[in-house]
Amino acid sequence: MIVLKSDREITMMREAGRVVAEALDEVEKAIVPGVTTARLNQLVEDIMLRRGARPAFKGYRGYPASICTSINNEVVHGIPGLKTLSDGDIISIDIGAEINGYYGDAARTFPVGAVDDISARLIKVTAECLEKGILQCVLNRRLTDISFAIQSHAEENGFSVVKEFVGHGIGRAMHEEPQLPNFGRPGRGPRLAPGLVLAIEPMVNAGGSLTQVLADNWTVVTKDGGRSAHFEHTVAVTENGPEILTRL
Ligand code: MF3
Ligand code: CO
Repeated sequence: MIVLKSDREITMMREAGRVVAEALDEVEKAIVPGVTTARLNQLVEDIMLRRGARPAFKGYRGYPASICTSINNEVVHGIPGLKTLSDGDIISIDIGAEINGYYGDAARTFPVGAVDDISARLIKVTAECLEKGILQCVLNRRLTDISFAIQSHAEENGFSVVKEFVGHGIGRAMHEEPQLPNFGRPGRGPRLAPGLVLAIEPMVNAGGSLTQVLADNWTVVTKDGGRSAHFEHTVAVTENGPEILTRL
């Protein structure tokens, strides 16, 4: 069942979204060669504590940290630890926050120092995929119009989209209906209505689309070892078009 949110509820979700956006901005400043992913996780925990937010990922299905840190060939759900970042890496940071029972969820991929041309283009195109998906969040469009916009842009640029993981509705739970694939033909699925709030999250690979999960049971990597990027925003569909809740 899809739960549409009232204006009052969207106001609550703005607060959770704002904390996630602030945390991503703070993390970006800390991304330098030599920093550990555990340090980035700690930084975000400190921000959430100060803001009265709860890190939504911690303990979710047993997930052991507050953020996901996925490096290079890691797609999503990388676990922070003692690993240090190196010049030329790319790192996807995914953050969820809960305030007063409402959730916000967003992710970005950052370059570490100077990255090669393919990595820079992968990051740029994946960010554009998210923007193009958001532009479809207009009344009376259908859910898979978002999916189609994302897949088309990735593939037109020679990249592939991950199919085993999807975006999702979000609100009083981090994951609500509907599921939002990053691929598929347009014009399918529910019509977009005011109060629908979606976490749109393209995962785009430089090589093939297939993934596998590592022995830690969390870290998703590309099968062919190619690099992967991930951008996510929590977006509300309104009478006036899309409102990005995870942007300052
Ligand atoms: N943003 C991701 C999602 O929407 C990450 C959550 S997985 C977690 O599914 F386990 F880390 F919480
Ligand atoms: Co999400």
